[in-house]
Amino acid sequence: SGKFFVGGNWKCNGTKDSIAKLVSDLNSATLEADVDVVVSPPFVYIDQVKSSLTDRIDISGQNSWVGKGGAFTGEISVEQLKDLGCKWVILGHSERRHVIGEKDEFIGKKAAYALSEGLGVIACIGEKLEEREAGKTFDVCFAQLKAFADAVPSWDNIVVAYEPVWAIGTGKVASPQQAQEVHVAVRGWLKKNVSEEVASKTRIIYGGSVNGGNSAELAKEEDIDGFLVGGASLKGPEFATIVNSVT
Ligand code: 13P
Repeated sequence: SGKFFVGGNWKCNGTKDSIAKLVSDLNSATLEADVDVVVSPPFVYIDQVKSSLTDRIDISGQNSWVGKGGAFTGEISVEQLKDLGCKWVILGHSERRHVIGEKDEFIGKKAAYALSEGLGVIACIGEKLEEREAGKTFDVCFAQLKAFADAVPSWDNIVVAYEPVWAIGTGKVASPQQAQEVHVAVRGWLKKNVSEEVASKTRIIYGGSVNGGNSAELAKEEDIDGFLVGGASLKGPEFATIVNSVT
């Protein structure tokens, strides 16, 4: 449903030099035309990336402040991301939830504010290993989805990223069947709780140890509409392979 969407989340990685190399590799890569491609550099390098990267690729922030900027030491506002040319922001990433401690309601408010200012939101959800093992995968994902749904007035500019925490940075990718099963459930939840139209239009992308070797198999699944890529997005040619795994 919708155009294939591939995001590269560079997380807290890179230097001016390594990012210049990555941008140059992305600029010379051949990318399938019918794919939305987004990269998310660390805030401090967004300006460098924006001024050197091809316009073919959009830029995302990795987080944003919950409201208008001001006296919030260490935060980055939505207005600032827009000023730097960002079109998207990643919100609710598992590292923000589980390492930094952000809560559902706060993340929902961030999403509502970013959308109200015209940024697209990559809304991340996903269960931890112990939650999966306890049979709570759907409960956890639905609760995280509900927090977004309760806060946002529209789903027009939201991409949902299903990123099981046990698959992030572990090399332990979800099987195509495991990912597809959750994507179907997420779509079902949207249909029941938001609308049939939103369920069919919203892109649901998968993240967690996606690489150039496993993306094609995952992309074959009916409800996998793209990827959010961490480690493998730091290598231009491999990221291009993932983008081009659209079927
Ligand atoms: P990895 O691809 O490194 O597992 O990270 C996934 C992720 O968290 C993307 O947001």
